[in-house]
Amino acid sequence: MDSKTVVLGVTGGIAAYKSAELVSRLRKRGYTVHVIETKNATEFVTPLTFSTMSGQPCIVDTFDRPETWNVKHIALAQAADLFVVAPATANIIAKMAHGIADDMLSTTILATKAPILIAPAMNTGMWTAQATQDNMQILKSRGIHVIGPEGGKLACGDTGTGRMSEPCEIEQEIVQLLERPKDMQGLHVLITAGATREYLDPVRFITNESSGRMGFALAEAAMERGAEVTLVQGSTSVPQPAVTHSISVKTTQDLYDAVVSECSKADIVIQAAAPCDYRFEETYSQKMKKQSGEPVVLRMVENPDIAAEVGRRKQQGQTLVGFAAETEKLTDHAMKKLEKKNLDLIVANDVTMPGAGFNTDTNIVTLITREEMEPIPKMSKSQLAFVILDKILKLRNS
Ligand code: PMT
Repeated sequence: MDSKTVVLGVTGGIAAYKSAELVSRLRKRGYTVHVIETKNATEFVTPLTFSTMSGQPCIVDTFDRPETWNVKHIALAQAADLFVVAPATANIIAKMAHGIADDMLSTTILATKAPILIAPAMNTGMWTAQATQDNMQILKSRGIHVIGPEGGKLACGDTGTGRMSEPCEIEQEIVQLLERPKDMQGLHVLITAGATREYLDPVRFITNESSGRMGFALAEAAMERGAEVTLVQGSTSVPQPAVTHSISVKTTQDLYDAVVSECSKADIVIQAAAPCDYRFEETYSQKMKKQSGEPVVLRMVENPDIAAEVGRRKQQGQTLVGFAAETEKLTDHAMKKLEKKNLDLIVANDVTMPGAGFNTDTNIVTLITREEMEPIPKMSKSQLAFVILDKILKLRNS
């Protein structure tokens, strides 16, 4: 039996009924579960249901006083190995983002030092509202884990994103968070993410569709496994995770400078960024004027190859990992890059496949080393990050 403790916050949304199943699943795994409901949540599911399912008193109000908890919010905050909020309404997300502590749940969350996982659930309009998205960005930047929300038909009749993830998926995420080994403690990992931009003038640039998701997932996973992470990111379109050290860059030359200056400190270098291979030969300090009727010819010159330079500088004991974004001859091209850049592992993705490559939540890759080729089925970039890190640790220990 595992004696880990999960404190589950349940807030006022129709998805609260699914949280009873979540409690049951967690108890079957041997976890101790304490439930804190907000007042609104009790309109959907009674505290009696949660007390019965968890075998512990369900706490609602800050002034409830079961004998075992003297200063309950502090005691529960300290008892938690993991704090989960499911469903998490727009209201609790806003309170968490801004440190508001006006009931038992928000007070306990503010006091806890445990990792936190939230499963947002709300109407699509509320989810996509700028205020909610800004608050989510704040929470993610503090290292709070998020699962969902999913798309589909919502209880309010709308169709869109806002449905809480299923209890079995939340359970899997909880297990992963609670059982993850800290097997990267003492390792320093340098990770690149996102796209670079090459400017023609102050308002025009070329770039690509990299969102940063793949590199960020790797950074998050490495942090969770106890590594020290330096993240060098170009332009990205999703919230950046909390890491040990982060550097923002714009152009491929900037990325080159940052990576070359940081790489000697790293045990592992993972280059998931999508740098522009070319830059404009001539650039303009003022907006280039339109020349009506005249074709414009813009010459481009090659950018430095960052991974190849890191490969040249490779130190003993260092593990170098690159990605290959291909549209044809996936493994042939990837293997050439593995050699040319002196990598230990290349993660090859065919970016033409649905659910793979740029700007998706999932990826489909083949892990290629000098000895073997391992196709990995489609999975979320977060899950894949763990698979890639497992592979890296296996290579380092072989
Ligand atoms: O960010 P996401 O939206 O999640 O998308 C993920 C991704 C598609 C960007 C990622 O999975 C990926 O494939 N990253 C590598 C993209 C790329 O530039 O591939 P490439 O085959 O052109 O480059 C091969 C390797 O050399 C890469 O590790 C790249 O970082 C590196 N490189 C490329 C060009 C350059 N001038 N210097 C480099 O170091």
